[in-house]
Amino acid sequence: MSQPHEYARENADQFRQQLHDLLRIPSVSTDPARAGAVQEAAEWLADNMRRAGIENVKVYPTSGHPIVYGDWLHAEGAPTVLIYGHYDVQPADKADGWIDDPFNPIERDGKIYARGASDDKGQMFIHVKAVESILKTVGKLPVNVKYCIEGEEEVGSPNLPKFLKEHQDLLKADVCVISDSGILSKNQPSIVYALRGILALEVEVRGPAIDLHSGMYGGAVHNPVQALAEIIAQLHDQDGHVTVPGFYDDVLELTPEERAELKKTDYSEEEWIKMSGAPRAWGEPEFTIRERIGARPTLEINGMAGGFYGDGIKTVLPARAIAKITCRLVANQDPQRIFEAIRNYVMRITPPSVVAEVRQLKGSGHPVQVDIDTPAMQAAVRAYEKGWGKAPVFMREGGSIPIVADFQQTLKVPVVLMGYGLNTDGAHGPNEHFVIDMFHKGIDTAIHFLYEVAN
Ligand code: BES
Ligand code: ZN
Repeated sequence: MSQPHEYARENADQFRQQLHDLLRIPSVSTDPARAGAVQEAAEWLADNMRRAGIENVKVYPTSGHPIVYGDWLHAEGAPTVLIYGHYDVQPADKADGWIDDPFNPIERDGKIYARGASDDKGQMFIHVKAVESILKTVGKLPVNVKYCIEGEEEVGSPNLPKFLKEHQDLLKADVCVISDSGILSKNQPSIVYALRGILALEVEVRGPAIDLHSGMYGGAVHNPVQALAEIIAQLHDQDGHVTVPGFYDDVLELTPEERAELKKTDYSEEEWIKMSGAPRAWGEPEFTIRERIGARPTLEINGMAGGFYGDGIKTVLPARAIAKITCRLVANQDPQRIFEAIRNYVMRITPPSVVAEVRQLKGSGHPVQVDIDTPAMQAAVRAYEKGWGKAPVFMREGGSIPIVADFQQTLKVPVVLMGYGLNTDGAHGPNEHFVIDMFHKGIDTAIHFLYEVAN
């Protein structure tokens, strides 16, 4: 075992204690009341990076939450690795079904339980500890590294594209590595080569000017909640295909070779039922489950509201109803084009007895597909072989990291997605956790990756 790996092993407990400290800071980016905590997390991270030996660490303010930058640039002639991650987290409330306080990390059954443990504090921290392990033993890195760790990923990275444009020299790199996605299983490492994009919108349906007495008006005024349900019901067919005209026009079809490779990462009906807790799998029958989540776009109703839903009864004919929708997009769909297709279709199917408005919301992102034949990918493959003792398989995932497309387009840097999250980690849900083994194996693999990139 090399010195950096020995250091990582000897300091394993300390690394986890530090991660606990970060997890204790409730850096929920969407909650204005937590803005102070988001700032605190940025400063905590900057301080930890400085102690790791990372230089020029700076907390850059934005018009939202800050970006933490740092670098180590003394590997003359060697490539530069840009490390991206996020220190912000999704909201979490004990009442959502958490066994313990989401911001009081607890280790149980080989897992660290806390909001952000897997997505993404635990995964992002892997890259700080990997670099520390090399710097504290060897004294120098085999490559140059730069960190760009943001605090707004979970709200769609609204301020990062501008930061990238304004700091192209600062962030210039030969490869960008990101650990904010999944791994197939504990025993089978994987490299993600496609992530879905995202488009967020809302549909508002208005009927009468104000809430009406359902006895006095009901039957002769179209109920907006009903009208919205009628519209929503026309967005999919019986087989789960989206019925919006043009929705699938730009979808890049899978090749037979890709479908064969993806078979290795598919789920059985039983596994899917167990993982999701749903009575059965659902969706486009001509595609496998992995293909449905990794290679097909979706139109998801995130929530509907309108009228009365309190205790007891209220005989109201509500004045308005609203639905929140997000679409997951795949290459080569364009969020703007898809928004227009949905808006046109909704306007066309809205009956004249109500008025509909379709509004795009902030937080859209292009889908991502990365080339698997790059030298950086080969370095990642070798790093997994060394860190896991097994070659990784290539897979697609359904989640989104909105800034990845900007890394490709603005910085023109190839991206490697080396995720360590398991589908069962409970990301965004109650009792989120990170498997301790994944954290330590991740550090080992990240150390190997830096040496492999140097070759
Ligand atoms: N880590 C996830 C992205 C992810 C999830 C990648 C699953 C691969 C598999 C990230 O933190 C996330 O949750 N992104 C949001 C972005 C949205 C808020 C714009 C998402 O996918 O919902
Ligand atoms: Zn997330």
